[in-house]
Amino acid sequence: MNRQLAAYGIRFWHGDIRSASDLESLPSADWVIDAAALPSVLAGLDNRSSSRQLVEHNLFGTVNILEYCRRSNAGFILLSTSRVYAIRPLSELPLDIAGKRFAPRFSKIEIPGISSAGVSEEFSTAAPVSLYGATKLASEALALKYADSFGIPVWINRCGVLAGAGQFGTAEQGIFSFWLHAWRSRRSLRYIVAAAIQLGAREFLTFEINQLARLSLPADLRSTVRNSLSSGRLQ
Ligand SMILES: NC(=O)c1ccc[n+]([C@@H]2O[C@H](COP(=O)([O-])OP(=O)(O)OC[C@H]3O[C@@H](n4cnc5c(N)ncnc54)[C@H](O)[C@@H]3O)[C@@H](O)[C@H]2O)c1
Repeated sequence: MNRQLAAYGIRFWHGDIRSASDLESLPSADWVIDAAALPSVLAGLDNRSSSRQLVEHNLFGTVNILEYCRRSNAGFILLSTSRVYAIRPLSELPLDIAGKRFAPRFSKIEIPGISSAGVSEEFSTAAPVSLYGATKLASEALALKYADSFGIPVWINRCGVLAGAGQFGTAEQGIFSFWLHAWRSRRSLRYIVAAAIQLGAREFLTFEINQLARLSLPADLRSTVRNSLSSGRLQ
């Protein structure tokens, strides 16, 4: 990865965002993209990281980056998550089964922030959200306050599933690369969510599959996976 970045003239410093002194030694920058996190919705609950570690990486780490931005007068872009949205109203949405997917029954849905275009910022972020979602929601609130108090430009992107370069098929990196790698190693394709809003899921796969296959798989498997996914025959 470092060599790939270097090819684009990008310099690389190794550091831990939990350590304020690691950020103090960095040169100034115009913008910072905060993409460092324990990104799993199960983080803090799955025996791979504790709840305290989750808060240290995702929230305290973000505070250190915000302090860096304040000192350097740098803009701040937070990769937040759709997991900031309230779990209960989402899980209680009336759903129909449309073909092989669930689809919200919009005629019965009157709560703000949900429409055929998906979930918007109007949707509730009331607790409980997951531990992961809570660290991101708290990071968002702090980032907006730093913007307000110190004049730092701040953008927050509540990402859904990210899929692309450098993903190696861990579940927390997104279900698409997880499925690709599971298929490659001949494991069964599992899905841990009981009901999901998957509007446009097929289109997303078709659109991204060239890039995903190129980045994630050896050459001999790429066209097989691409053809299987495009025709909906991933088995
Ligand atoms: N993958 C998704 O579908 C998805 C969805 C929504 C939001 N996000 C967010 O996007 C960002 C990137 O996630 P990803 O899916 O690429 O995960 P990833 O695990 O591939 O990347 C996270 C990176 O953060 C680094 N990191 C973690 N703690 C750190 C620390 N204390 N100091 C320095 N680096 C640290 C890890 O080494 C890793 O390289 C995260 O903020 C995540 O919350 C991801």
